[in-house]
Amino acid sequence: MTKLHIGLGVTGGIAAYKAIEVMRLLQKAGCEVSVAMTRHATEFVRPLTFRALTDRHVIVDDYDPANPDPIAHINFSQEIDLLLIVPATANIISKFANGIADDFLSSTYLASTAPVLIAPAMNVTMWEQAATQRNIERLRADGVRFVDPVAGELACKTVGTGKLEDVENIVSQVLNLLDAETQRRRGGRETSLRLSVSALKDDLTKEHILITVGGTREAIDPVRFISNHSSGKMGFAVAVAARERGARVTVVAASTSVEPPDGVELIRSISAQEMFDAVMEKVADATVFIGAAAVADYSPANVADAKIKKEGIDGISLELKKTPDILSEVSKRRREGQMVIGFAAETNDVIEFAKSKMAKKNLDMVIANDITAKGAGFNTDTNIATILTRQRETALGLMSKRALADKILDEIVNLRKSNPANAARSGNS
Ligand code: PMT
Repeated sequence: MTKLHIGLGVTGGIAAYKAIEVMRLLQKAGCEVSVAMTRHATEFVRPLTFRALTDRHVIVDDYDPANPDPIAHINFSQEIDLLLIVPATANIISKFANGIADDFLSSTYLASTAPVLIAPAMNVTMWEQAATQRNIERLRADGVRFVDPVAGELACKTVGTGKLEDVENIVSQVLNLLDAETQRRRGGRETSLRLSVSALKDDLTKEHILITVGGTREAIDPVRFISNHSSGKMGFAVAVAARERGARVTVVAASTSVEPPDGVELIRSISAQEMFDAVMEKVADATVFIGAAAVADYSPANVADAKIKKEGIDGISLELKKTPDILSEVSKRRREGQMVIGFAAETNDVIEFAKSKMAKKNLDMVIANDITAKGAGFNTDTNIATILTRQRETALGLMSKRALADKILDEIVNLRKSNPANAARSGNS
């Protein structure tokens, strides 16, 4: 798996110390971080701090004889997947906007093709100054993204906009941007990135999450079966994300075309009935059930013992019978505090059908995906989904299944926090 590489530029402001926290969170998220500082930044934080924490040379001046790389601004700028500036002063913003390259960081900006994210922090008057706003507009037009500063009491004791955004929000925006860029530039190649800031907190240690994954196969005879296109990517992504956030994870998987993850309990069950039996055996012990599998709604009523022959037969009819609905049954048997979550794979009226499933099956959450949309649904590395709970509806854009998995888990954490009574509901209402 590829590690994504962030070039973290630190400039001279009182918020420079917060760059250390940003760097730590990015490292926890699985990123490689290389730090470059302006000369003024070193007045606030010593390069040694970043060097000790990254185990990499911190570049301030590429002409410094101690610098191990004589053309560092070129090599540094071409190695990175994102250039992030925390905090950004009015001065560095002005240099970037005007193409000035009179130090290492401003030369790196010019030499890099990586996306750039800037988190400014400065005095309110400097922030509101026409020159600063003009430079920001110019950079936005050049494709640079900003994590805008927030209002609050500033270091100079004035109150107004200019305070560095919360470290967690900055990192969250970095991870969203990296996910989108990875999809675009690397064709969705898997990275080792943990895509949610909350994912860095081990916030699911109290949960045992039971997940159904893949597509069931319903036998017609010993050779043939009815199935669907599910690869298991979505369900396994949820399993990996949950494991990384500290949950105990049990996966009941039907047919899948990708490798199951390590570190989870894996039970193979091929047909809908086998999946039903496996889930019913495990579910009493789970705190959350997530039905990500594409379970056949019907299976052949009679399975032939021997291969059905075609000689002398122009056509055959299959009689189908309904399979047990695993999700409905889990919901009926739900115990105190257990959350029951389903997916809805739809081709039309996606949200309406998803809402009706949520009501009919008495679910805490439904993840609705339009399987006809490009980049969504079966056997893709990405998905486009709307997360529905009884409280709200969150429409998400195209993102990796791994990123969606973290959004689903974030919502579980929110439900637990915001409405324990809902999460603790028992029995069908
Ligand atoms: O595996 P991938 O290739 O990554 O594809 C992902 C996916 C498209 C399979 C996934 O995102 C998805 O939408 N999974 C649910 C597919 C589905 O069967 O949807 P449904 O709308 O038919 O079913 C609704 C819910 O009931 C689902 O949670 C399903 O698991 C559950 N169900 C359905 C029938 C049944 N007999 N038992 C069930 O538990």
